[in-house]
Amino acid sequence: MESSEKLYGRGPQEVLAHIMNSVIEIAETSDLKKLLYLFSDMAHKLVPADRCTVWVYDSQRQVLCSEVADGVEKIETPSSRGISSHAFNFGTPVIVNDPYNDKRFNPLTDQQTGYKTRNILAIPLKNASGEAVGVFQALNKQGGENFTENDLNMLLLVTVYLAREIDAALLREEIESTQREIIYTLAETGEMRSKETGNHVKRVAEYCSFIAKEVGLSEKQQNIIKVSSPLHDIGKVAIPDAVLLKPGKFDSHERKVMETHAVLGYDMLKHSRRVILNAAATIALGHHEKWDGTGYPKALKGEQIHLYSRITAVADVFDALVSDRCYKKAWPFEKIVGLFKEESGKHFDPTLAAVFLDNKDQFKAIREKYSDEL
Ligand code: C2E
Ligand code: SIN
Ligand code: SIN
Ligand code: FE
Ligand code: FE
Repeated sequence: MESSEKLYGRGPQEVLAHIMNSVIEIAETSDLKKLLYLFSDMAHKLVPADRCTVWVYDSQRQVLCSEVADGVEKIETPSSRGISSHAFNFGTPVIVNDPYNDKRFNPLTDQQTGYKTRNILAIPLKNASGEAVGVFQALNKQGGENFTENDLNMLLLVTVYLAREIDAALLREEIESTQREIIYTLAETGEMRSKETGNHVKRVAEYCSFIAKEVGLSEKQQNIIKVSSPLHDIGKVAIPDAVLLKPGKFDSHERKVMETHAVLGYDMLKHSRRVILNAAATIALGHHEKWDGTGYPKALKGEQIHLYSRITAVADVFDALVSDRCYKKAWPFEKIVGLFKEESGKHFDPTLAAVFLDNKDQFKAIREKYSDEL
């Protein structure tokens, strides 16, 4: 950001054009970190300060965290001390041009960062209901000048918008993490009945996102499959104990009953309009399809099977084989490798089987990281 071209001192049209460009980019970004960088960059261009920091309030820990701070590592400051905290707590912007003679100033941050603060401009970031969610802070106006009302007004334009975006992003993150938690809990509860440990679902999630990354899916898609794949067997909650927990081999009737878990899971999840539950429905339905068309429930072939389901099939079978089940012992690793070689192009999408065969150590590492031993 040091090199960013400054708009300071230019005509309002140029400033406006810059804001418009940033706004377009910002509107297309949903990642909070990236957003904050874009904003901080925008602020830099509007007011020539040496350092811009966006502090976001962590309400659980009652600290302000520097999500973006030029030239320094991420730092935290208690929300009870300092100029930025003052702006945050009182909900009003503050300009201080002589900090070391201001009682509100917290010189500790300078001591930690080895920086000499000459002047500060701090603006609270308020959400739509008027609550402060963070602070925008500029340090050391360039050219040895003081911060002015004019600088403040310029930045107020930006911060009003910034605050809304932070609020929306925080809300989005909260919704997503709540979804993640509910899904894990649901999936673990489902697996508990079949006496699997909760780690089975975590491992499937990890193998799936690993494979997704290896085959070049976007970060967003990697995340979708990571969060949704743990629900692949949720339909087993409707399978009777006598079948689910049978210690030995199934007969053909038991097999038929068990195979309904794919459609049952799909039916449980299919009504949702949420992306993640939608993906989970797709995976529940398709995770026992086979590449050569001999799977169930629909005997789909090749790319008729959704990629998420094909990925989950590799992850699920690997984890089933590497683990003890009520009806079988864990297989030795070499035997599993043999099966994946044999079943490439039959049970498994050959590209995905190759991801396993080329990355055996990573699969082993995930298996060990979330082992079933307590
Ligand atoms: P699971 O135990 O998690 O197994 C998932 C998938 O891994 C299986 O899907 C199968 O494709 C593969 N797999 C697991 N164990 C073996 C094995 O010993 N040999 C081979 N070649 N592949 C294996 P599948 O067969 O559709 O089974 C779905 C689920 O049905 C299994 O999940 C398990 O919960 C249950 N199940 C399957 N067969 C039996 C059985 O004979 N007895 C009992 N009690 N449950 C079974
Ligand atoms: C303060 O807000 O008082 C400290 C600001 C800083 O030096 O980073
Ligand atoms: C499991 O994941 O525990 C069972 C796997 C399956 O039915 O695919
Ligand atoms: Fe299954
Ligand atoms: Fe499974």
